[in-house]
Formats: sequence, C-alpha cells, structure tokens
Amino acid sequence: MRPQIAIIGAGFIGRFHARGIRGLIKLGLLDARYVAVCDRVEQRAQEFARLADLERWTTDAGELISSPEVNTVYVCTPTAEHKELVLKAAAAGKHVFCEKPLARTLADAQEMYQAVRAAGVRHQVGLVLRHSPIFTVLKELISDPKLGRLMTVLFRDDQFFPILGGYASDWRKDFAVTGGGTLIEHSIHDLDLLTWLAGEVESLRAETRNFAGHEGVEDLASVTLRFANGATGYLVSVWHNVLSRGSGRLLELFFEHGYFTVDDDFFGPIRYETYATSEPTVLSDEEVRRRYLELVGLTDEVHAEALARYSLEDYFFLRALSEGREPFPGFDIGLRAHELVDAVYRSAAEGGAEVHLVGTGL
Ligand SMILES: NC(=O)c1ccc[n+]([C@@H]2O[C@H](COP(=O)([O-])OP(=O)(O)OC[C@H]3O[C@@H](n4cnc5c(N)ncnc54)[C@H](O)[C@@H]3O)[C@@H](O)[C@H]2O)c1
Repeated sequence: MRPQIAIIGAGFIGRFHARGIRGLIKLGLLDARYVAVCDRVEQRAQEFARLADLERWTTDAGELISSPEVNTVYVCTPTAEHKELVLKAAAAGKHVFCEKPLARTLADAQEMYQAVRAAGVRHQVGLVLRHSPIFTVLKELISDPKLGRLMTVLFRDDQFFPILGGYASDWRKDFAVTGGGTLIEHSIHDLDLLTWLAGEVESLRAETRNFAGHEGVEDLASVTLRFANGATGYLVSVWHNVLSRGSGRLLELFFEHGYFTVDDDFFGPIRYETYATSEPTVLSDEEVRRRYLELVGLTDEVHAEALARYSLEDYFFLRALSEGREPFPGFDIGLRAHELVDAVYRSAAEGGAEVHLVGTGL
C-alpha cells in the first residue's frame, strides 16, 4: 500500500511531521504522498499547504478523513481533540498516527484503542522516544546479563512551562484540553521509557504540586516506582519558568555491576562504568548515532543524512504501512503509558497512596 497522507493540526508537532515526511520522500526513502492538511484556523492550513506545495487544504477534518484520496491520517491537534478524530479515521478505515497523549483520560484512550482494533486499521502513537537513538543504544548496552540485576533508576525531566517560549501554546494550561500538566503532557514519555528500559511497573506512589496555579495542571510530579523485577525508580517531572532551559532529561541507572547515565533524550553521549571498565567511559554522540543506525538496520549514507535532519518515527510508521506490517509503537503501548499516568494521578489524589498496576489484558 502506498501511504496517501493527511495531517490534521498545523501547529508545532504538525510542522515537525510535515517536515519529516516531505524530507524523507525527497531523500527517496519513502514511496508516499503528502496529500492535504487541515487546521481549524484557515490561515495556518493555507500556509502549510503553500510551504509543501499542496493543492488541498481545509478547515474541516471530516472532509479529509472521508476523502478517497487519503488512506493515512496524522492527528496532531491538542489532546482533547484526538479522540473524535481517531474514532472518525478508524470508522473510515484509515490508518492513524496519533500524537501522545492519546487522550485526556485512560477511558478515552481505551476507547480509541478498541476502535482502531475493531476497524482493523494500523496505528502508531507519537511516543517518539521509542525511536530515540540514545535510548535505543542505551537499551542495548544494558541488556548485558553480566551487569547483574537492575537496582534503581533516577529520572529527572524538566522543561519550561510550554505556555511560554517557542511553544507559546495557551491550551497547555487548560485542564479541559490537557487532562493534566507536566505528567501527562511531557512525562507520559518518561513513564513509557521507564517500562521500556526497566520493565513492568508493579506499583507506584506519587505526589503532584501546582506552583503556577493553573487549575488541574500540575507543574511538579514526583513518582516512586516499584518494578516487577525488584528495582526501584524515581521520576521528578517539572515545568518551571527558566526559559534558557529547553526540554531536558537526565537519567541514571544503577545495576549490581554497572552504572549508566545520559543527559539528553535523543542524541548525545552515554557515560558508563561497569565490571568491564577500569575508569569512567564515554560512548560519543557520533558512536551513538552509528550504533543506532546499525541496530535498526539502516546502514546507507542516506540514512545517516535522514537521521541528522529528521526524526525517523515517520519513516518507521510509513514504511510499516507500505510493507503491510504493524507500526511501532502502537496504541497498545500508548494505552499502557496511560495506565501509568492514570495510576500517578490516582495516587496523588489519595495523598501518595500505593497504587498497584493491573494488567490491561492487551
Ligand atoms: N511527541 C512529542 O514529543 C510532542 C511534542 C509536542 C506536542 N505533542 C502533542 O501534539 C499535540 C499538538 O501539540 P502542538 O504543540 O502541535 O499544538 P499547537 O497548538 O502548536 O497546534 C495544534 C493545532 O491544531 C489545530 N486544531 C485544533 N483543533 C483542531 C481540529 N479539531 N481540527 C483541525 N485543527 C485543529 C490548532 O488550530 C493548532 O494549529 C498535543 O497532543 C501535544 O501533546 C507531542
């Protein structure tokens, strides 16, 4: 199948995907067509269409979803709008890429997952860190059984409140649109990543705070996790007003015979000390990129060029569609992340009570 793509939501993340899709097609890495764009704000849709030389743009998402010219829909609107668009796309038999969080609530995310499954359409969630070079290489490094058992993980995620700076998106302080603050909006990535690197979470305890005072939109979340393998984890997620700090993630993992740390979430060096090293060792950014491409089986020069310019999550999504495979990460993984987000909010609402995670039966 040749993907014929429509993007709904011509904002920050819509631009990111539009740029990636166009660039990957231009590099000859994808046989796909970017057909049309939709934004509620006419001027934005028009500007997107002009930049990409598209003939079609609209303010009516339903029109694009039902168009026979479109077989693949990207949902890049603010969170509260995701569900209706995904349900419509599934009902129309269109494959869907939906940005994270899937929805404001766990119940809505469950409904979306059931809808894509029932419709038999393919789906991917924008948990982009699953395609992060630094975390993919880190995951490979920590798979060495000689490291012994994982003991603990420390994770700090900080960002300026994204109603400020480059994002300047007012809706992020509106609980009716977001369903929460730094935890659901940013650290849904972290909770997903923690399960990817450290395994299933058995239980957690959490506290949230609201310094900025936007009702229901926490700007601090502290979470203590207990993993099924016996390890513990600590996540601190902060939105502050320090505009010079972009989105930063600092992660440290302690094994019985090894220590690993990264201070970036996509590229950059990995530092480690293990049973096999006699001193602190650095895997350079260049080496991380090289190993990543090798691990995902993309070894031509054009792939290195693509990686330097675009996130490869669009490449993997659209290639899976072309080849008739299930994309990764699917809504099942998105739903698991929502279960953790929901557990954090439940624990915080109950004064930090321990919440046990029950399986979704996926
Ligand atoms: N994967 C990531 O790391 C990442 C990063 C940023 C944002 N996001 C997610 O992407 C989504 C969008 O965020 P953003 O920063 O791009 O927001 P944004 O405000 O920059 O853009 C959203 C756009 O959607 C349009 N819109 C709203 N409702 C619409 C509708 N029903 N039909 C058509 N257009 C509509 C708005 O007019 C706006 O132009 C959010 O869910 C956010 O959490 C994910």
